[in-house]
Amino acid sequence: MTTVEQPAPLPAAPEPIPIAKPSLGPLEAANVAEAVASTWISSTGPFVERLEAGLADLLGAPHVLCTSNGTTALHLALAGLGIGPGDEVLVPDLTFAATANAVFMAGATPVLVDCAADHWNADAAAFARGISPRTKALMVVHLLGQACRMEPILEFARNNNLLVVEDCAESLGADCGGQPTGSFGAVGCFSFFANKVLTTGEGGAVATSDPDLAKRMRRLRAHGMDPQRQYWHDSVGFNYRMTNLNAALGVAQLQRLEELLARRRVLAQRYQSNLAGLSWLRSGFTAPGRSIDWLHPLFLAENILGLSRDQVLDRLHAAGIDARPMFYPLHLLPPYRNLRRAGELDRATDLGLSGLMLPLYPDLREDQVDYICAQLTALGRKGA
Ligand SMILES: Cc1ncc(COP(=O)(O)O)c(C=O)c1O
Repeated sequence: MTTVEQPAPLPAAPEPIPIAKPSLGPLEAANVAEAVASTWISSTGPFVERLEAGLADLLGAPHVLCTSNGTTALHLALAGLGIGPGDEVLVPDLTFAATANAVFMAGATPVLVDCAADHWNADAAAFARGISPRTKALMVVHLLGQACRMEPILEFARNNNLLVVEDCAESLGADCGGQPTGSFGAVGCFSFFANKVLTTGEGGAVATSDPDLAKRMRRLRAHGMDPQRQYWHDSVGFNYRMTNLNAALGVAQLQRLEELLARRRVLAQRYQSNLAGLSWLRSGFTAPGRSIDWLHPLFLAENILGLSRDQVLDRLHAAGIDARPMFYPLHLLPPYRNLRRAGELDRATDLGLSGLMLPLYPDLREDQVDYICAQLTALGRKGA
């Protein structure tokens, strides 16, 4: 173990660098103006249909329904699958809280699952440690743009009669073995929040190849009302629809998706090559398919730098860089502390507390990436 001296505070950034920023241009502006001019500003309108058709095409999923956000997409999926009180759902401990919150919204109980030994995503072995007679489903989260290893997870789910819901909030455009994330499980759920690779402001979507499930989710999305019989409600539903205004943004973003992902890739590769020599950063996370670049994650190797993760974040903030901590492992947070755990959650704890996320968005400039990397490199320079 080598320890380096505590570095002095770094000079402030020439301009603040946010963690994320949507890339919105003339195409988005023209679509929104068209939606306004048409007066179709609630959830009926051609942009919603166009976005659903475009996503269905991209994902190879016959049924896509847009939703008001990613959390409502997850809840709609669970409700559509009939998951409710008395059911347990396996959820990764290392995820954004919405994954587990959706299980609570459905009235079911999350059971927390550790990360795989070689990745920050959960794998089949981790899910297997959490199974009980009450387990009804598992939530696969393709965290930070990297797909989970799906084949063993699907086999485990098949063998144990478990439904698979994919949380693809951070993975639109990623694949596992050539198949898009969101097209493996019973339902794939997406978020189009402003920091996501495709944004509608607030928004989300569910994708499925099951026509009956699509029909149930379509009704639940709109108050449980029979689409053929006005004000006839045959179930207790929600209002989880996306507006035509939000979808207008999404149609433009979908048209630009390849360009947006390609730009993110260039910047992520620049981070990687700039930071490649740093002994205090961990590497060796292998994705089973084509990953996409959402925020740029880093994990500190223990004890080498001589600074805690939060001290590193403080230094970056002082330099005007809005870096963020990795998601806290859910079991450390008050609402989830007493949930059943699928064995030890050591790896999620380790990664959750040693990780951080760096700014990444299409309009981030190369010189800003270089600036961020220079600040990080200076942290480990003896006497800096
Ligand atoms: C992994 C994950 N799941 C779910 C969500 C919830 O999405 P939303 O914020 O659109 O409700 C997010 C994003 O914010 C997320 O990162």
